[in-house]
Amino acid sequence: MSIWKRKPLAQLLAEAADSEKGLKRTLTAWSLVALGIGAIIGAGLFVRTATAAAQSAGPSVTIAFVVAAIGCALAGLCYAELSSSIPIAGSAYTYTYATMGEFLAWIIGWDLILEYAVGAATVGIAWSEYLNNLLINVLHMSPIPFELSHSPFQKIVDPVTQHVTHGIINLPALFIVAVISLILIKGIQESAFINGIIVIVKVTIVVLIIVLGWNFINPANHTPYIPPTDIFVDEHGVGHAYGGIMGILGAAGTVFFAFIGFDAVSTAAQETINPKRNMPIGILGSLAVCTVLYILFGHVLTGLEPVEFFRTDGKEASVANAIIHAMGASYNWLAQFVTIAILAGFSSVILVMLLGQSRVFYSMGKDGLLPKMFSDLHPTYKTPYKANLAILVIVGAFAAFVPGDIVGDMTSIGTLFAFVLVCISVIILRKKEPNMVREFKTPLVPFVPLLGVAVCCAMMYGLGWTNWLRLFAWMALGVIFYFAYGKKNSVLNNPKE
Ligand code: ALA
Repeated sequence: MSIWKRKPLAQLLAEAADSEKGLKRTLTAWSLVALGIGAIIGAGLFVRTATAAAQSAGPSVTIAFVVAAIGCALAGLCYAELSSSIPIAGSAYTYTYATMGEFLAWIIGWDLILEYAVGAATVGIAWSEYLNNLLINVLHMSPIPFELSHSPFQKIVDPVTQHVTHGIINLPALFIVAVISLILIKGIQESAFINGIIVIVKVTIVVLIIVLGWNFINPANHTPYIPPTDIFVDEHGVGHAYGGIMGILGAAGTVFFAFIGFDAVSTAAQETINPKRNMPIGILGSLAVCTVLYILFGHVLTGLEPVEFFRTDGKEASVANAIIHAMGASYNWLAQFVTIAILAGFSSVILVMLLGQSRVFYSMGKDGLLPKMFSDLHPTYKTPYKANLAILVIVGAFAAFVPGDIVGDMTSIGTLFAFVLVCISVIILRKKEPNMVREFKTPLVPFVPLLGVAVCCAMMYGLGWTNWLRLFAWMALGVIFYFAYGKKNSVLNNPKE
C-alpha cells in the first residue's frame, strides 16, 4: 500500500467513457461559459471589492484585480489543458490523482472543500447582507434582527445607547444554501437553464453600474490612487497591510475570490458534450469577460465613495449603499434593481459552487477516499444526492456561524493553493505522460505554469499570517482524516475490496 500510488490514466479515461452508468452529458460550450460567468460574478465583486479597498488597497483595488486576473489566466491555461485531456468529474482532485498520487490528490480534494463549500458559505453570507438591504430599501420593511442574520463572532454597538448586540446565527445564509441544495438534487439541466437567465441579468447590472456610475466618480476619492503604506486594524483586531505594494497584494488575495468559479467549470467535464473542445472555451472565455468588467467596476465603485465609507456605513451591502449615497435619490431604482439582481446572482454562484463540491465528493466517494455513499446517484435524477445532503450540512454550518470576511479569505487562500498544485500537475504530466492526447495545450510549459505558481504564491503571501494559519490547520485536519479513513478504504490501494 503506497500513499503515492497514481491512478493510471487509462483507468481514468475508461471511467469517463463509461457514461451509460454515470452522469448525463447535457452541457454545451455556451452553457459552460454561462456556468462559468454564473459562478464568477458574485460576492467577490459585490462584497469583497469594497472590503479589499477598505482593508488593503483603496482605489488601487483595480490593480489588485489585474494581479488576480494574471494569476487566474495562467492557472486557467493549466486547468484548460488538464480538463481537455482528463474530462472527468472532480477537477483538480482528479488531475492530481493521475499525476502526483493518492496522498496529494486527497490533500487537494480536501483543499477544494475550502474553495467550493466554504466559498458557497461566503456567498450565502453575502446573500444575507443583501436580503436585509432588500427588506429595508426595496420593500421598506424591518430587517431581519442582527442576532438572527449574523454569526456569533459579530457584534453591533448602538451609537446612542452604546448597547452591544451579538450575532447568534445567520439564518438567511442557511436558508439560501438549503434551497439551492434541493434544486441541485433535482438535476443539472434545469439548474443550467435558470443559471443562463441569471447570468444575463447579472452582466446587465454590472454594465449599468459602470456606465451610469462613471459620471459620479469623484476624483478626490481616487487621490492618491495607491495609498501610502499603513496598517488597518479590522473589527476582529487583525492588522492588514494597507497601501503600497503589500496592500495591492493583500487586496489581490481578497478579490481573487471574485474570479473563483471559472475552474468550477472543469468539474462538470463529465456532463459536457465534447469536453475536449468545450472545456477550454468555457474556462478561458468566462475568465476574459469577467476581467474587463471587474477592473471597470472597481474603478467606479472606489470613485463613488471614499474608503472610510466602506469601513463604516457601506461595510455591508456595499454596492447598493454606495449607489444610494453617492448617486442620489434619482438613482434609487438602480440600487433597488442591483439588490434584486444580486440576490438572484448570488444564488447562481452558490449553485455552481455546490455543484462543483458535490462532483468532487462524488469522485472521492467512487475512489473510496470518502464513504462510498457520496457516489450514489439518485435513481431518477441521476445526481449525487447523498453528497449534496452532506455538503448542505457542512456549508450550512459555515454559513450560519462564521463571519463573511473570514470564510472569504479562507476560500481565497485554499483556492490559490489548489491553483498552485494544478500548475505543477501540468509540468509533471508532460514528463510522465508525454504521449497523452491533449486537445488544448498550455503554451510555453514550464514557463507559464511556473509563473502561475509564482503569482498565486504572491497572493497567498499577501493574505497574511492569520490565513496561512487557517490553511495550515485545515490541511492538518485533512492529513489526520486521510490516515484515519481514506488510506484504509481507498479502492486503488485496496484492490480486493
Ligand atoms: N467568484 C465568485 C464570487 O465572487 C465565487 O462570488
